Amino acid sequence: MQSGLIVEEVYTAYDKADVLEGVSLTAKPGQITCLLGSNGSGKSTLIRSILGLTPPHSGRITFDGVDLTRLPTHKVVAAGIACIPEGRKVFPKLTVEENLRVGAYQEPSDQVVLERFEEVYEIFPRLRERRTQLAGTMSGGEQAMLSIGRGLMRHPDILLIDEPSLGLSPLLVQENFKVIRNIYERGITVFLVEQNVHQTLAIAHYGYVLSKGRVVAEGTAEQLQGNEEVSQAYFG
Ligand SMILES: Nc1ncnc2c1ncn2[C@@H]1O[C@H](COP(=O)(O)OP(=O)(O)O)[C@@H](O)[C@H]1O
Ligand SMILES: [Mg+2]
Repeated sequence: MQSGLIVEEVYTAYDKADVLEGVSLTAKPGQITCLLGSNGSGKSTLIRSILGLTPPHSGRITFDGVDLTRLPTHKVVAAGIACIPEGRKVFPKLTVEENLRVGAYQEPSDQVVLERFEEVYEIFPRLRERRTQLAGTMSGGEQAMLSIGRGLMRHPDILLIDEPSLGLSPLLVQENFKVIRNIYERGITVFLVEQNVHQTLAIAHYGYVLSKGRVVAEGTAEQLQGNEEVSQAYFG
C-alpha cells in the first residue's frame, strides 16, 4: 500500500468542459508538497475534487490506501483530511473558542478537545488571548490564524491549505508561512496550494505546477526554483 495522498489522472468538470484534465500528483507523508498555478488554473477545483465537493468524473484519489474518489465529504474528513479553504471563512458571530470547537465537532471526548485547544494555543498564543472575542471583530491576520487553528482541531493526518497568503500583508504572509512550517514540524503532512511561488518553494519539499488544468512541471523545490515552465505557467 502506498501512503500519502495520491491523485491519479483526475478529470473534473463543473458542467460540460473539463477544468482538470488528467491531473496526477502525490503528497508524500511527512512532507510539504505544493501546487503552484496562476489564477483560474484549477487549484481550488483540485481541492474540491479531493474533498468530494466536486467529485471527478474520471480518475482516482486515495489517501493512505483508502479510495476517496466516490466518498461523501464527511467520510473524506473522517479519513484524516482537513482543509483550510480559500478566503479563510471563519464564523464571524462565534467567539474564537467556539470557532475552534466547530473544528473538533466529531470528537466525542471533552478531555481530547481541551488538549487540542492547548495545542492550538501553543502554536497561536494570540488566539488564547482572544479566545472570548467574536471572530468577525478580529484582523485579517488573526482570522487566518483562527482558520488554521480550526483545521488543526481535527488532528488531521494531512492538511490541505488553499492560498493562505491571498489578501494578507507581506508581514502576515511571512508569519503564515512560518506557521505552516511549524505544523509540518509537528508531524502533519501538508498540501499547500499557492500562487506565491518563491515563499512557497522556500518551505516546500516537492512541488507541482498547474496550468489550465494540467500539471506542466514537477520537481523538488530546488529544481522548481528558476524552472522555465514555472515562469511560463505564470507569465507565458
Ligand atoms: N463553481 C464553479 N462553476 C463553474 N466553473 C467554475 C466554478 N469554480 C471554478 N470554475 C472555473 O474553473 C476554473 C478553475 O477555477 P479554480 O479551480 O477556482 O482555479 P484556481 O483556484 O487555480 O484559481 C476557472 O475557469 C473557473 O472559472
Ligand atoms: Mg483558488
